Amino acid sequence: MKILEDRILKDGQVLGHDVLKVDNFLNHQVDPMLMQQMGEEFHRLFKDEKITKILTVESSGIAPAVFAGLAFKVPVVFARKHKSVTLKDELYTSVVYSYTKKVSNHISISKKFLNSDDRVLIIDDFLANGQAVQGLVDIIKQADADLAGIGIVIEKTFQKGRELIDKEGIHVESLARIKAFEDGKVIFMDEANTINANN
Ligand code: G4P
Repeated sequence: MKILEDRILKDGQVLGHDVLKVDNFLNHQVDPMLMQQMGEEFHRLFKDEKITKILTVESSGIAPAVFAGLAFKVPVVFARKHKSVTLKDELYTSVVYSYTKKVSNHISISKKFLNSDDRVLIIDDFLANGQAVQGLVDIIKQADADLAGIGIVIEKTFQKGRELIDKEGIHVESLARIKAFEDGKVIFMDEANTINANN
């Protein structure tokens, strides 16, 4: 998605060899106009899939997921990372290891909000090692719901997440696919749109 790639080049900062900081429009400050365009793009990509629910994980998946939900006109559920006093029983849970933060989180979703009638689209901000998405896929299996596909805002193709998902034969669409970071430069899979992003 050209507008997203342009925004990454304008506002993204490459940290080290494998991290892209995008807190200007996605991970801290959120650009709702861009989120809306991304929601519409996810709708265009998955509109024939009879989606009944969007699923994500808190916190940074919520903004793109809500705009996808708006485009599909379906509810959005986010898995919680911390146990809530109002969410005690009747939970689907899975364990997600974060390579970036080096911690394991239990993620959970109330059984009230996901069931075997649902056809689910997972939305997340980053696909890196694929742990978050795998936790959500596990929860969808526990609910005996159908997984229609996975929509990702920014995929880092050089990490192992995509390979893990492809092995399961799941339909994945990423709005921006990053092949590498080289000397502070973002290299996209479609190389036409590659310039310096080292501001
Ligand atoms: P995964 O997202 O594919 O599971 O991979 P990984 O375990 O490496 O990611 C752990 C966390 O780091 C996730 O956020 C993920 O979104 C984020 N992340 C991974 N790569 C990048 C990157 O290049 N840039 C940024 N900004 N984030 C990255 P999380 O722990 O779920 O946190 P949050 O959603 O509460 O922000």
